[in-house]
Amino acid sequence: MKMRITIFPGDGIGPEVLASGVRVLNHLAQKFNHEIEFQERLIGGCCIDKFATAITDEAIETAKQSDAVLLGAVGGPKWDNPNAQVRPERGLLRLRKELGVFANIRPVKVYPCLTRLSPVKSELLKNVDIIVIRELTSGLYFGEKKRMLVDGHDTAIDVLQYQDFEIERIVELAFRIAKERKQKVTSVDKANVLESSRMWRKIAGEIASRQPDIAYENMLVDTASMRLISRPTDFDVIVTENMFGDILTDEASILAGSMGLLPSASLGETSRGLYEPIHGSAPDIAGKGIANPIGTIMSTAMMLRYSFGLEQEAHLIESAVEMCINQNVLPIDLGGSASTETVTEKIISLI
Ligand code: IPM
Ligand code: MG
Repeated sequence: MKMRITIFPGDGIGPEVLASGVRVLNHLAQKFNHEIEFQERLIGGCCIDKFATAITDEAIETAKQSDAVLLGAVGGPKWDNPNAQVRPERGLLRLRKELGVFANIRPVKVYPCLTRLSPVKSELLKNVDIIVIRELTSGLYFGEKKRMLVDGHDTAIDVLQYQDFEIERIVELAFRIAKERKQKVTSVDKANVLESSRMWRKIAGEIASRQPDIAYENMLVDTASMRLISRPTDFDVIVTENMFGDILTDEASILAGSMGLLPSASLGETSRGLYEPIHGSAPDIAGKGIANPIGTIMSTAMMLRYSFGLEQEAHLIESAVEMCINQNVLPIDLGGSASTETVTEKIISLI
């Protein structure tokens, strides 16, 4: 198979973990006779430094022309000035929007031998296997933003807006995914307060009533945040709006033991997807060669599965990661001392 992949290393530890993902992909390509063409582009702070914008039109075009996109991380203290005209995150948001990847799939899997790393009691973590499906191209992130004077007071406005079809398509995806899993969907909203959530709940309920085989519940986001920690095995597929999904997935990473483990896939109407670890640019450890590459490597597995239909290759990566963890070759965030390089090498050798 021929694959055209655009890579965006980004900032902080982004380039280090991305290099690991690329090595894993190259290794598999060699093993299975696939041909990969990588195109590298700038995004985030490094792009601001060079082009005074967080992503260029040309890079967006390149990403659109490719079959899949792999991204490291964006941002860092250097570009954190609240008065800055342009922030690194804008590049990522624009890329997601322009690629039309409205569904951000974030699996949260707990590796039995890592439960000690989580502050949550081990007995609560047994068999935790959750997929959070976060709406990614609408809601509070993309509504109108305004800054103005109201009655002499500096006033800021962020609009939380959803259209019916944006909710329909993501909830339908959640049901499709749940069908292949434990057959349960939890739709998370704040319907006791927000109009957008009331519409969300109504649409989700209608879709659920057409799929009686799948257990369905809706839950307020405050309750969900508590339940994620107190009864995580209650969940199978969680579907929620952009901002709630952002917050809940950071929280859910605590179940796994470290943010560094979690991958994500962002999908739209086509097979072209955007793949990124859920962690940030971790500027405090950037350049030290100690970042955990597992979130990125697991994202490449999701890429092979969702964008290229290469289930066998995807599965090989996932089992190699599991073996690497079981054999105790662990990076620092997982309580070990293995470098990014060592972990990557180990996973490749296990593939
Ligand atoms: C994430 C990140 C991003 C988000 C930031 C970097 C804009 O937190 O992917 O979860 O909020 O979507
Ligand atoms: Mg986040």
